[in-house]
Amino acid sequence: MHRRPRLVAPGAALAALLTGCSATPDAAAPGSGEHAGHHGGHDGHHGGHDNGAGPLVHRFERAEDWVAEFEGPERDAWQKPAEVVAAMRIAPGMRVADLGAGTGYFLPHLSRAVGPTGAVVGLDIERDMVRYMTERASRERLANVTARQVGPADPGLDPGSVDRILVVNTWHHIPDRPAYAAKLRAALRPDGAVVVVDFTDTARHGPPKEHRIAPEAVAAELRAGGLSPEVVAEDLPDQYIVVGRRADAGAAR
Ligand SMILES: C[S@@+](CC[C@H](N)C(=O)[O-])C[C@H]1O[C@@H](n2cnc3c(N)ncnc32)[C@H](O)[C@@H]1O
Repeated sequence: MHRRPRLVAPGAALAALLTGCSATPDAAAPGSGEHAGHHGGHDGHHGGHDNGAGPLVHRFERAEDWVAEFEGPERDAWQKPAEVVAAMRIAPGMRVADLGAGTGYFLPHLSRAVGPTGAVVGLDIERDMVRYMTERASRERLANVTARQVGPADPGLDPGSVDRILVVNTWHHIPDRPAYAAKLRAALRPDGAVVVVDFTDTARHGPPKEHRIAPEAVAAELRAGGLSPEVVAEDLPDQYIVVGRRADAGAAR
């Protein structure tokens, strides 16, 4: 995890691929008139601004509406799930939570990383995402994977219960992030870490720029929640990774 920090992703001149959040700022959400009407897709008509006023408010009510976007075959090329999971420094037997897991894109990767003695839980505010993840775990025989619905301001994890918490393309949706970070910290085991992956300001996809959070700002929010943050080096073309360790921990390095 302790590689050379790189604060800005290289190579902004990448093909405009579909995003883990939304392809374009103006795109209507797939399939849902409610999405399109209330939110203009992920990014069109939301309220609040991360660069000043609050989280990106957007709903992902119907899982099947998002499968093509979240699970498209082209995503692996820019999401680089193996690299993300490597940055998490997961050991067999660990307990890992995927916060804002959506359709569960990361679940098979996390399942493999923790192995049969470990456990992975996908958390999401959307009941239908939880339904989809549960069915997916069964369909893909991910015996160590479960899914659970959580409230928007609480990860619903027991104190000291998990080794890693992955937050991909979701941190910018979280309200009152310093307070939320403190809740994540409480859920970590002593050597645990939160791993936030989100879009750089130069990314060709993702939320509109006013909702992108700089990695230094994520680090500050994690620090405010009692975590010890580090922007880690990676080769993701559109995203950064910030790792927040329990400040009293000596491991997860
Ligand atoms: C852009 S999707 C990312 C899904 C997944 N992490 C991925 O990379 O494919 C954001 C997800 O976060 C969920 N979400 C939004 N706010 C949340 C919150 N406060 N707590 C938990 N999940 C949340 C949404 O319902 C949605 O499924």
